[in-house]
Amino acid sequence: PRPILLTRHGESQDNVRGRIGGDAALSEAGELYKKKLANFVGKRLKSERAASVRFFIYIDSISSLCSLNLLRLWVFGREGKRKRKTKNKKIWTSTLQRTILTASPIVGFPKIQWRALDEINAGVCDGMTYEEIKKNMPEEYDRSRKKDKLRYRYPRGESYLDVIQRLEPVIIELERQRAPVVVISHQAVLRALYAYFADRPLQEIPHIEVPLHTIIEIQMGVTGVQEKRYKLMD
Ligand code: G3H
Repeated sequence: PRPILLTRHGESQDNVRGRIGGDAALSEAGELYKKKLANFVGKRLKSERAASVRFFIYIDSISSLCSLNLLRLWVFGREGKRKRKTKNKKIWTSTLQRTILTASPIVGFPKIQWRALDEINAGVCDGMTYEEIKKNMPEEYDRSRKKDKLRYRYPRGESYLDVIQRLEPVIIELERQRAPVVVISHQAVLRALYAYFADRPLQEIPHIEVPLHTIIEIQMGVTGVQEKRYKLMD
């Protein structure tokens, strides 16, 4: 098993102002979190050895002899060579500065920016507070979004379903990784990623709690998925 560590960026200046979207830098608390996170990740990743392909082939062959698993065995075998190239891809961020800044003190591990990990696009509401949205677009906010948060698409923006769809390549790549990955992203995106690994129903996704300054560690093993949460600060 290899862990996937999911975390939101450190608190941003827009979080403090209650504004959604945007591309703000970190607040004072966010600055503190990035240091605590770097410390945690440094220790956690060093203690974790990349799982060997041989281990996976062994586990796979004993876990089941069904044809699907034989296919997986074949896929893992083929990925053996690729493993050496991908094992160091450990810190993934979005392209927004609050995640890049949060990752900045983490050293010794390659960092990759994914546009697919960017926060849900709030379209015309980008940069607004929820109060402003309620006041300026009561119809939108109260009738539509509250009624069906999963399907509600911000005008000129995205819905949760859109986010889930754009995360498909990220999930495929995460599944293929044989070494730990730290994903530093945003609330809506992490709700969707977490729901995938924790096997939570689609309807729940927009309401899953993914607090700031907390690391959710997911371990995928043959016995299922295990989860631990580390709250590094309030
Ligand atoms: O829009 C930014 C938030 O991270 C997502 O929150 O979907 O609960 O409004 P929300």
